[in-house]
Amino acid sequence: FGKTIQYLESTDSTQKVAHQLAQEGCPDGTLVIAEEQTNGRGRLARNWHSPKYTGIWMSLVLRPKLPPAKAPQFTLIAAVAVARAIEDICEISPDIKWPNDLLLNGKKITGILTELQADSDKINAIIMGIGMNVNQKEQDFPKELHNNATSLAIETGKEISRSELVKRILENLEKYYLLYLEKGFAPLKLLWESYAVSLGKDIIARTISGNISGKALGITEEGVLKIEDQNGQIHKIYSADIEMK
Ligand code: BTN
Repeated sequence: FGKTIQYLESTDSTQKVAHQLAQEGCPDGTLVIAEEQTNGRGRLARNWHSPKYTGIWMSLVLRPKLPPAKAPQFTLIAAVAVARAIEDICEISPDIKWPNDLLLNGKKITGILTELQADSDKINAIIMGIGMNVNQKEQDFPKELHNNATSLAIETGKEISRSELVKRILENLEKYYLLYLEKGFAPLKLLWESYAVSLGKDIIARTISGNISGKALGITEEGVLKIEDQNGQIHKIYSADIEMK
């Protein structure tokens, strides 16, 4: 991964640039990375604060020969690859909150946005956006994020090399992607579960069709979340915001 790189000093969103490159037929593993995003996007149409020289704002184009139903697994593979990179470089272990948030002390350090270009039966490209708060200080975050977001520098008390982290994230992504192609999702599911905070706990899943409360049981082979409500009914959650009770 990352053999074809588009490095940008500033862009509106690496995700948008990567979508364009994918449509133009760029190779598998193409990386778009920027020092700053002026219109970074998060899940559920939120903004992603991406100030200059402080974080990692990047999008990777992957072209697995798989059906679109496999795409949610890639968010989880990315979360594991990034969590392991943080452990390797920063010597602290983040938690993963389904599907895509990496947390330290309950605050977000990384978000992952997996988007798809696909026909009904095959993936054309997965655009995997990774936003990581690395060297921001508290005052670099807007006030409304103070309770919810943190950076690796704040949590470790050290300045962290962004280039080393990027290198390790790409290495890990490639390693876990190959493991996935060779052995399927099962070993990655185990790894993911070893970082997951919400499993076995009571949670509320806020979905577009309403809220579901219950116990988080685990993830399925497809990478979707299973919740058991108080009547013992099992719900499969494909997309939601999770709140722990
Ligand atoms: C989330 O909502 O948690 C996902 C955030 C994803 C942010 C990254 S930063 C690089 C890429 N470009 C974007 O505009 N968004 C993603």
